[in-house]
Amino acid sequence: MTPAIETALLKERPDAVSQLAHWYYEEWGRHDGKTLESVTARLAERVGNMDDLPLHVVAIGGDDVVGAAALVQSDMDILTELTPWVSSVYVADSHRRKGIGRTLLHRLEREARRLGFNRLYLYTRSEGNVAFYGGLGWQTIQEVDYHGKAFVVMVRGLTDTDGGAM
Ligand SMILES: CC(C)(COP(=O)(O)OP(=O)(O)OC[C@H]1O[C@@H](n2cnc3c(N)ncnc32)[C@H](O)[C@@H]1OP(=O)(O)O)[C@@H](O)C(=O)NCCC(=O)NCCS
Repeated sequence: MTPAIETALLKERPDAVSQLAHWYYEEWGRHDGKTLESVTARLAERVGNMDDLPLHVVAIGGDDVVGAAALVQSDMDILTELTPWVSSVYVADSHRRKGIGRTLLHRLEREARRLGFNRLYLYTRSEGNVAFYGGLGWQTIQEVDYHGKAFVVMVRGLTDTDGGAM
């Protein structure tokens, strides 16, 4: 039977740092010219955060860390007036399409509310990701050219009355 998925702050699962670093390096870091060591070191600096950004959450199934996501102050070197951003959303390949991404996003929303935020932002690229976030209540607010590539910026209002307008 598939174990139930739980979520935790990375602070509660510091042993997950190397797994997250490996995912982030393979998915994004290596293409951005980073090293596994630098990605690991950056995560290690953030591991203790609970009431400050950047804040990382992990998804756990049984004994395994199966996904992760983060809330960060700023995720682009444009649109710096918008904050905070959902970033580094990743579910292990073999665990995708089982609702883990949704569970992670819901946990991040709870953490964001706890910290007093009313809106979240993110940027993404693929149609599949836009569909994923759109299904979770995110709205596209802008298309941007960022470092020579086209991205979609999305917003999620966290209050009943916030439709997400900028
Ligand atoms: C994007 C990602 C986090 C989604 O995680 P996941 O655990 O597979 O997503 P879920 O199972 O929670 O999906 C929730 C809903 O979104 C849909 N969905 C998920 N991925 C989708 C895709 N690529 N295309 C269309 N719909 C998608 C699911 O079908 C599900 O819909 P449902 O509610 O009708 O069943 C995962 O594919 C991933 O880690 N990708 C690689 C890293 C990445 O691109 N991260 C995002 C960076 S912005």
